[in-house]
Amino acid sequence: MPEEQKQQFKVTIDNITTEVPAGTTILNAARKIGGEVAPPAMCYYSKLEGSGGKCRTCLVEVSKGSDKDPRPMPKLVASCRTTVMDGMVVKNITSEKVIDARKSVVEFLLINHPLDCPVCDQAGECDLQDLGYGHGAVKTRYEFKRRTFEREDIGPYIQLHMTRCILCYRCTYVADQLTDHRVHGILDRGDHSEISTYISKAIDNDFSGNMIDVCPVGALTDRTFRFKHRVWFLNPMDAHRDCDKCCGQVTLWNRGDEVYRVTARKDQWGEVINLPDGKPGWICNTCRFDKKQTSDWVVEGPTKVNRHSVVSAGHYQNIVKPHDPLDKVLAGRKPQLLMNIHEASEVNQPQVHLNEIPGPATGKTFNGDPYAFSDNVTDIREREGPNPEGTDSTNPNTP
Ligand code: SF4
Ligand code: FES
Repeated sequence: MPEEQKQQFKVTIDNITTEVPAGTTILNAARKIGGEVAPPAMCYYSKLEGSGGKCRTCLVEVSKGSDKDPRPMPKLVASCRTTVMDGMVVKNITSEKVIDARKSVVEFLLINHPLDCPVCDQAGECDLQDLGYGHGAVKTRYEFKRRTFEREDIGPYIQLHMTRCILCYRCTYVADQLTDHRVHGILDRGDHSEISTYISKAIDNDFSGNMIDVCPVGALTDRTFRFKHRVWFLNPMDAHRDCDKCCGQVTLWNRGDEVYRVTARKDQWGEVINLPDGKPGWICNTCRFDKKQTSDWVVEGPTKVNRHSVVSAGHYQNIVKPHDPLDKVLAGRKPQLLMNIHEASEVNQPQVHLNEIPGPATGKTFNGDPYAFSDNVTDIREREGPNPEGTDSTNPNTP
């Protein structure tokens, strides 16, 4: 049934009421309102079917179930997995319970995730880093050894650093839904769970690079970009090319004319954009890894960084510079920038040997009389004063 013909439900989130079609999740209703009202999401990804329900960062409090059954829900619920009811009242940032629970969830996610942001390629665009700053506790109560893994190259373009993985399952959904043969998934259970490729089989599918884009932390990184640059020093530019495999609409991450990396375009929730035909704008590995020249692309202009992100720092658009009065003052004259200072200043006196004068050089020295005394630029009186040589001053004549 088309969205507009579906029954509409009224839902109030953080005291703001909106109407959404029946079947919409609380998270998507909150995203419709936007801003801080939308709970953070580490595992839900609207373009990946079945995602959500793993990380618990999106917990909210339902203080009224619906108009028909106004009882509150007894526990906090995962907003990415709970659909709205007509008349439902939800608390996100207005609930102390939610803020407290989110803090605990961050602490839990950081039990095994290392705090290696200073050396992690995801720093600056990491959802867990943002969450940690927004909701994290100052210190952890965990006293046991963190689990660690060796880094693993899964295919020629992607590196897996399992130590950082938060087991959100997004990459496995990409492998399932975008690539032909899934050779990548989560092995084992509980504390032993890990992402791996089946019998170390490399991922060589054309769309495997999208795993990097969906990974909310630095567990899956682009081997062609690792340690090349910090993202906040790069200028994201929207660009496109004719590609027979994908939409060809990307973000180029440039420094000057050099393309450091290519990613899919992201929306304000950090997910790949929806194209005008409603399909997600996943990009192929050719566009992502092989087209690293500006000449490969038609550059459209600077990317609008919607998210509250450090990436937006330093990217200025439509700059209005203050009026420079110098042109008016010079009235058409050109400043003489290539002046020969030696001819113009008459400072150079070839007959003055600086190593032979008894004290610091002064204006008088350069007038050709190293023993002159009077006022000068350093306010030292030459050849006068009580200080014997080698005491308070290197200049024996300084008073
Ligand atoms: S590697 Fe990244 S995308 Fe995959 S499960 Fe781990 S955190 Fe999620
Ligand atoms: S986003 Fe809802 S549980 Fe992860």
